[in-house]
Amino acid sequence: MINLCVLASGRGSNFQAIMERIQSGYLNLVRPALLISDTGAAPALRIAQSYGIETLFVDPKAFSDHDAYDSYLADEIQKKDVDLIALAGYMRIVRKPMVERFENRIMNIHPALLPAFPGLNAQRQALEYGVKLAGCTVHFVDEGMDTGPIILQAVVPVLQDDTEQSLSARILMEEHRIYSEAIKLFSENRLELHGRKVRIKHG
Ligand code: GRF
Repeated sequence: MINLCVLASGRGSNFQAIMERIQSGYLNLVRPALLISDTGAAPALRIAQSYGIETLFVDPKAFSDHDAYDSYLADEIQKKDVDLIALAGYMRIVRKPMVERFENRIMNIHPALLPAFPGLNAQRQALEYGVKLAGCTVHFVDEGMDTGPIILQAVVPVLQDDTEQSLSARILMEEHRIYSEAIKLFSENRLELHGRKVRIKHG
Protein backbone atom coordinates (compact mmCIF):
# COMPACT_ATOMS: atom_id res chain seq x y z
CA MET A 1 0.00 0.00 0.00
CA ILE A 2 1.08 3.58 -0.59
CA ASN A 3 0.09 6.53 1.58
CA LEU A 4 -1.30 9.43 -0.45
CA CYS A 5 -1.38 13.08 0.54
CA VAL A 6 -3.48 15.47 -1.56
CA LEU A 7 -2.91 19.24 -1.67
CA ALA A 8 -5.92 21.25 -2.82
CA SER A 9 -6.93 24.91 -2.71
CA GLY A 10 -10.49 24.83 -3.96
CA ARG A 11 -13.39 22.84 -5.33
CA GLY A 12 -11.75 19.45 -5.00
CA SER A 13 -13.40 17.56 -7.85
CA ASN A 14 -10.15 15.80 -8.74
CA PHE A 15 -9.69 14.81 -5.12
CA GLN A 16 -13.29 13.57 -5.02
CA ALA A 17 -12.70 11.51 -8.17
CA ILE A 18 -9.62 9.93 -6.59
CA MET A 19 -11.60 9.11 -3.45
CA GLU A 20 -14.36 7.49 -5.50
CA ARG A 21 -11.80 5.28 -7.20
CA ILE A 22 -10.24 4.34 -3.88
CA GLN A 23 -13.67 3.36 -2.60
CA SER A 24 -14.56 1.40 -5.73
CA GLY A 25 -11.36 -0.63 -5.39
CA TYR A 26 -9.76 0.64 -8.62
CA LEU A 27 -7.03 2.27 -6.51
CA ASN A 28 -6.71 -0.79 -4.31
CA LEU A 29 -3.12 -0.01 -3.29
CA VAL A 30 -3.76 3.58 -2.21
CA ARG A 31 -4.49 4.77 1.32
CA PRO A 32 -5.57 8.43 1.66
CA ALA A 33 -3.44 9.68 4.55
CA LEU A 34 -3.91 13.44 4.55
CA LEU A 35 -5.57 16.36 2.75
CA ILE A 36 -3.82 19.70 3.07
CA SER A 37 -5.20 23.05 1.97
CA ASP A 38 -3.80 26.56 1.93
CA THR A 39 -7.37 27.92 1.89
CA GLY A 40 -9.56 27.62 4.97
CA ALA A 41 -12.80 27.75 2.99
CA ALA A 42 -11.77 25.16 0.38
CA PRO A 43 -14.61 22.69 -0.37
CA ALA A 44 -11.86 20.05 -0.67
CA LEU A 45 -11.43 20.19 3.12
CA ARG A 46 -15.09 19.34 3.62
CA ILE A 47 -14.92 16.51 1.11
CA ALA A 48 -12.00 15.02 3.02
CA GLN A 49 -13.86 15.33 6.31
CA SER A 50 -16.88 13.59 4.82
CA TYR A 51 -14.63 10.62 4.05
CA GLY A 52 -13.08 10.75 7.52
CA ILE A 53 -9.67 11.70 6.18
CA GLU A 54 -7.33 13.76 8.30
CA THR A 55 -7.17 17.38 7.12
CA LEU A 56 -4.79 20.23 7.67
CA PHE A 57 -5.34 23.87 6.80
CA VAL A 58 -2.02 25.67 6.70
CA ASP A 59 -2.41 29.43 6.41
CA PRO A 60 0.31 31.00 4.24
CA LYS A 61 -0.10 34.24 6.19
CA ALA A 62 1.41 32.59 9.25
CA PHE A 63 4.78 32.12 7.51
CA SER A 64 7.53 34.61 6.79
CA ASP A 65 8.14 33.29 3.28
CA HIS A 66 7.20 30.64 0.77
CA ASP A 67 10.16 28.34 1.55
CA ALA A 68 9.29 28.37 5.25
CA TYR A 69 5.74 27.39 4.34
CA ASP A 70 6.92 24.52 2.18
CA SER A 71 9.38 23.29 4.85
CA TYR A 72 6.52 23.14 7.31
CA LEU A 73 4.33 21.24 4.83
CA ALA A 74 7.14 18.79 4.10
CA ASP A 75 7.57 18.08 7.84
CA GLU A 76 3.85 17.49 8.32
CA ILE A 77 3.67 15.25 5.28
CA GLN A 78 6.71 13.23 6.36
CA LYS A 79 5.11 12.57 9.76
CA LYS A 80 2.38 10.63 7.95
CA ASP A 81 4.81 8.40 6.07
CA VAL A 82 3.54 9.66 2.75
CA ASP A 83 4.71 7.94 -0.44
CA LEU A 84 2.98 10.14 -3.00
CA ILE A 85 1.73 13.73 -3.00
CA ALA A 86 -0.96 14.68 -5.51
CA LEU A 87 -1.56 18.36 -6.23
CA ALA A 88 -5.22 18.70 -7.15
CA GLY A 89 -6.12 22.29 -7.88
CA TYR A 90 -3.37 23.49 -5.54
CA MET A 91 -2.82 27.13 -6.39
CA ARG A 92 0.71 27.59 -5.03
CA ILE A 93 4.00 26.79 -6.70
CA VAL A 94 5.77 23.99 -4.87
CA ARG A 95 9.24 25.10 -3.83
CA LYS A 96 12.60 23.48 -3.20
CA PRO A 97 11.93 22.28 0.39
CA MET A 98 9.09 20.12 -0.95
CA VAL A 99 10.54 19.15 -4.33
CA GLU A 100 13.89 18.04 -2.85
CA ARG A 101 12.34 16.10 0.03
CA PHE A 102 9.86 14.29 -2.22
CA GLU A 103 11.80 13.99 -5.45
CA ASN A 104 9.69 12.34 -8.16
CA ARG A 105 6.96 11.69 -5.63
CA ILE A 106 4.83 14.77 -6.31
CA MET A 107 2.30 14.76 -9.16
CA ASN A 108 0.17 17.53 -10.60
CA ILE A 109 -2.78 17.66 -12.98
CA HIS A 110 -2.87 20.52 -15.47
CA PRO A 111 -5.84 21.28 -17.78
CA ALA A 112 -3.81 21.61 -21.00
CA LEU A 113 -1.59 19.55 -23.24
CA LEU A 114 1.76 20.64 -21.81
CA PRO A 115 4.11 22.18 -22.74
CA ALA A 116 1.35 24.28 -24.33
CA PHE A 117 -0.52 26.68 -22.06
CA PRO A 118 1.15 26.35 -18.66
CA GLY A 119 0.05 28.53 -15.74
CA LEU A 120 -3.35 29.95 -14.95
CA ASN A 121 -6.50 29.81 -17.11
CA ALA A 122 -5.07 27.15 -19.40
CA GLN A 123 -8.43 26.32 -20.97
CA ARG A 124 -9.04 29.99 -21.80
CA GLN A 125 -5.53 30.28 -23.24
CA ALA A 126 -6.20 27.27 -25.49
CA LEU A 127 -9.55 28.63 -26.63
CA GLU A 128 -8.14 32.08 -27.40
CA TYR A 129 -5.22 30.57 -29.29
CA GLY A 130 -7.64 28.69 -31.50
CA VAL A 131 -6.33 25.15 -31.07
CA LYS A 132 -8.50 22.31 -32.39
CA LEU A 133 -7.43 19.81 -29.75
CA ALA A 134 -7.09 20.47 -26.04
CA GLY A 135 -6.69 18.18 -23.05
CA CYS A 136 -4.92 17.59 -19.79
CA THR A 137 -1.59 16.39 -18.45
CA VAL A 138 -0.48 14.54 -15.33
CA HIS A 139 3.17 15.23 -14.63
CA PHE A 140 5.78 14.93 -11.93
CA VAL A 141 6.47 18.23 -10.23
CA ASP A 142 9.81 19.98 -10.44
CA GLU A 143 10.63 23.53 -9.40
CA GLY A 144 9.26 25.07 -12.58
CA MET A 145 5.70 26.01 -13.40
CA ASP A 146 4.08 22.93 -15.03
CA THR A 147 7.43 21.79 -16.45
CA GLY A 148 8.07 18.36 -14.90
CA PRO A 149 8.20 14.95 -16.66
CA ILE A 150 4.91 14.00 -18.31
CA ILE A 151 3.22 10.82 -17.06
CA LEU A 152 -0.11 10.74 -18.95
CA GLN A 153 -2.06 13.02 -21.26
CA ALA A 154 -5.59 12.92 -22.65
CA VAL A 155 -6.96 14.80 -25.64
CA VAL A 156 -10.41 16.30 -26.21
CA PRO A 157 -11.73 18.17 -29.26
CA VAL A 158 -12.33 21.91 -29.16
CA LEU A 159 -15.76 22.56 -30.70
CA GLN A 160 -16.61 25.65 -32.76
CA ASP A 161 -19.03 27.05 -30.22
CA ASP A 162 -17.13 26.09 -27.07
CA THR A 163 -17.01 28.52 -24.19
CA GLU A 164 -14.36 28.41 -21.49
CA GLN A 165 -16.94 26.61 -19.32
CA SER A 166 -17.92 23.95 -21.86
CA LEU A 167 -14.30 23.21 -22.81
CA SER A 168 -13.24 23.10 -19.14
CA ALA A 169 -16.03 20.63 -18.36
CA ARG A 170 -14.97 18.33 -21.22
CA ILE A 171 -11.34 18.46 -20.07
CA LEU A 172 -12.31 17.90 -16.42
CA MET A 173 -13.91 14.54 -17.24
CA GLU A 174 -10.57 13.40 -18.65
CA GLU A 175 -8.69 14.88 -15.69
CA HIS A 176 -10.72 12.73 -13.34
CA ARG A 177 -9.91 9.64 -15.38
CA ILE A 178 -6.18 10.05 -16.01
CA TYR A 179 -5.22 11.37 -12.58
CA SER A 180 -6.36 8.15 -10.95
CA GLU A 181 -4.74 6.13 -13.73
CA ALA A 182 -1.39 7.83 -13.05
CA ILE A 183 -1.75 7.29 -9.30
CA LYS A 184 -2.56 3.64 -9.93
CA LEU A 185 0.56 3.22 -12.08
CA PHE A 186 2.65 4.84 -9.33
CA SER A 187 1.11 2.59 -6.68
CA GLU A 188 1.97 -0.45 -8.78
CA ASN A 189 5.55 0.81 -9.12
CA ARG A 190 5.18 0.97 -12.88
CA LEU A 191 6.55 4.47 -13.54
CA GLU A 192 10.20 4.64 -14.51
CA LEU A 193 12.02 7.93 -15.08
CA HIS A 194 14.69 8.26 -17.75
CA GLY A 195 15.82 11.86 -17.75
CA ARG A 196 12.58 13.71 -18.33
CA LYS A 197 10.92 10.75 -20.02
CA VAL A 198 8.50 8.60 -18.06
CA ARG A 199 8.35 4.96 -19.17
CA ILE A 200 5.35 2.87 -18.16
CA LYS A 201 6.31 -0.68 -17.29
CA HIS A 202 3.88 -3.43 -18.32
CA GLY A 203 1.75 -4.79 -15.52
C1 GRF B 1 -8.38 21.48 -12.44
O1 GRF B 1 -8.78 21.94 -13.70
C2 GRF B 1 -6.91 21.17 -12.43
O2 GRF B 1 -6.44 20.69 -13.65
C3 GRF B 1 -6.29 22.50 -12.15
O3 GRF B 1 -7.15 23.11 -11.22
C4 GRF B 1 -8.47 22.57 -11.37
C5 GRF B 1 -8.88 22.05 -10.04
O4 GRF B 1 -10.19 21.58 -10.01
N1 GRF B 1 -4.92 22.35 -11.68
P1 GRF B 1 -10.69 20.73 -8.77
O5 GRF B 1 -10.42 21.56 -7.51
O6 GRF B 1 -9.95 19.43 -8.75
O7 GRF B 1 -12.16 20.56 -9.00
